[in-house]
Amino acid sequence: MDGNGRWALARGTLRADGHRAGVDAVRVIVRECVRREIGALTLFAFSSENWRRPPDEVLGLMSLFVESLEAEIPELQSNGVRLRFIGERAELDARLRASMASSEQLTAANARLALQVALSYGGRGDILGAARRLALQVERHQLTAAQIDEDTFAAALALAGLPDPDLFIRTGGEQRLSNFLLWNLAYTELYFTECLWPDFDAHAFDAALQHYATRQRRFGLTAEQIEFASVADA
Ligand code: IPE
Ligand code: MG
Repeated sequence: MDGNGRWALARGTLRADGHRAGVDAVRVIVRECVRREIGALTLFAFSSENWRRPPDEVLGLMSLFVESLEAEIPELQSNGVRLRFIGERAELDARLRASMASSEQLTAANARLALQVALSYGGRGDILGAARRLALQVERHQLTAAQIDEDTFAAALALAGLPDPDLFIRTGGEQRLSNFLLWNLAYTELYFTECLWPDFDAHAFDAALQHYATRQRRFGLTAEQIEFASVADA
């Protein structure tokens, strides 16, 4: 979700107002996912590198997270959204961690939409954490090196148990992953749009999904193999 700051600048207002408008866009997109029966959505709210922003912006974002979390829970709950957080929790303040834990518990039985919010998250850190957890199991003789395959590795990552994302959307015009889900995005379709995150509405989301619908996902196969398989399926 990129472009909150530029959205604010364009209106001659504060970056903090851009982040607030960004929360409104999140609400709209989560509703759209529920309405369209999309099973999983992972939002990159704050990266492990975002800690390097000016302290007042970081502090403002942290209190916005607590406030929004508390305000949005009732609707998430009634829409059947299961909320989980990925990232380095130890780096977040105690009040935010408490809201995160209680909203996760409250929504744990919901099954319509799996909503992951990445806070203090980095894809490299995620991979390193998985490598360390597996190494520890090897040290304890609970696992052998030969048993580490793609499945055991994926199960040690933050998105364990969820399918790899089908579609990655980045707003704000930059064409990079910025250390998002590096492992999980291996075969994900990438969509970049100039649209700034606060302007990303149901219509813009629809355009991203339309783009996705035109992609042929080959996963290493040839176009002929894919076309043959879909004829055989029909
Ligand atoms: C959003 O937008 C995301 C967060 C890190 C919360 P930015 O704050 O990066 O907006 P720009 O890139 O300055 O426009
Ligand atoms: Mg940015």
